[in-house]
Amino acid sequence: MTVVAEEGLERHFEHTIERDQRIEPRDWMPDAYRATMIRQIAQHAHSEIIGMQPEGDWITRAPSLRRKAILLAKVQDEAGHGLYLYSATETLGVDRADLTTRLIERRQKYSSIFNYPTLTYADVGVIGWLVDGAAICNQVPLCRSSYGPYARAMIRICKEESFHQRQGYELLMTMMRGTGAQKEMVQDAVNRWWWPSLMMFGPPDADSPNTARSMAWKIKRHTNDELRQRFVDMTVPQAEALGVTLPDPDLRWNPERGHHDFGPIDWDEFKRVLSGDGPCNAERVARRRRAHEEGAWVREAAAAHAAKRRTR
Ligand SMILES: [Fe+2]
Ligand SMILES: [Fe+2]
Repeated sequence: MTVVAEEGLERHFEHTIERDQRIEPRDWMPDAYRATMIRQIAQHAHSEIIGMQPEGDWITRAPSLRRKAILLAKVQDEAGHGLYLYSATETLGVDRADLTTRLIERRQKYSSIFNYPTLTYADVGVIGWLVDGAAICNQVPLCRSSYGPYARAMIRICKEESFHQRQGYELLMTMMRGTGAQKEMVQDAVNRWWWPSLMMFGPPDADSPNTARSMAWKIKRHTNDELRQRFVDMTVPQAEALGVTLPDPDLRWNPERGHHDFGPIDWDEFKRVLSGDGPCNAERVARRRRAHEEGAWVREAAAAHAAKRRTR
């Protein structure tokens, strides 16, 4: 391509972003934009799929048929989210099989939150309330992300995530009306999941070198710290209504800022977990790898079936 032609395409790309229109798969886009979108959507897809594990652990031990049906449906929703997102990534010219390989070889990341264990059934409720809640704060603005297939996938995903959040909260409400031991289970789960949930928004803005470019490209609409603050402000009254204490002695309303102040986040823990040294990283990846290997015959059979149909 001539330099002049490429300049024209680049101008068109920038105008599309400026006018708040979407970039579509066949449009020209800068290589760095494509690489950023592939990385972001693939990490998101991997998180949905790996995120099935901590809650999936409780399907066989759900306390009632109703809870089991709810949890099964929720975990299946997460599989669906992973599928939409792998499909969205493929529109950028990568192969889903390759993305799975990168995940199980630990060359691509997923959300650090899914490397923590689920110790009691209250964890299922707290994941719905806090983890799906944080995901919603992150993802609602992504419905207006500049890349069309990602933005459209996010609309449906967000509707399902908000349902997940409500089921988690309803589960916790039920436990908080129960015995002393049940209330303690809820408080213990909140204590363990609160800080990792705040880490889900990523490093502080000062340590997030890619934020500025992602904002300029309208991939991201708000910074990590803005979204984290929004989540804290949203969650504090919900915790009060539930009757649990968020494990942060510095958490208080700041009337001057019009927001809640909160204590320092342990970023060393975040980095440790993200780099592979969290409580469950090895287990999560090993299980994903095993499932992939055990599913090889299904993929082969599906490919053979498709080939047969083509020749008919
Ligand atoms: Fe999801
Ligand atoms: Fe969810």
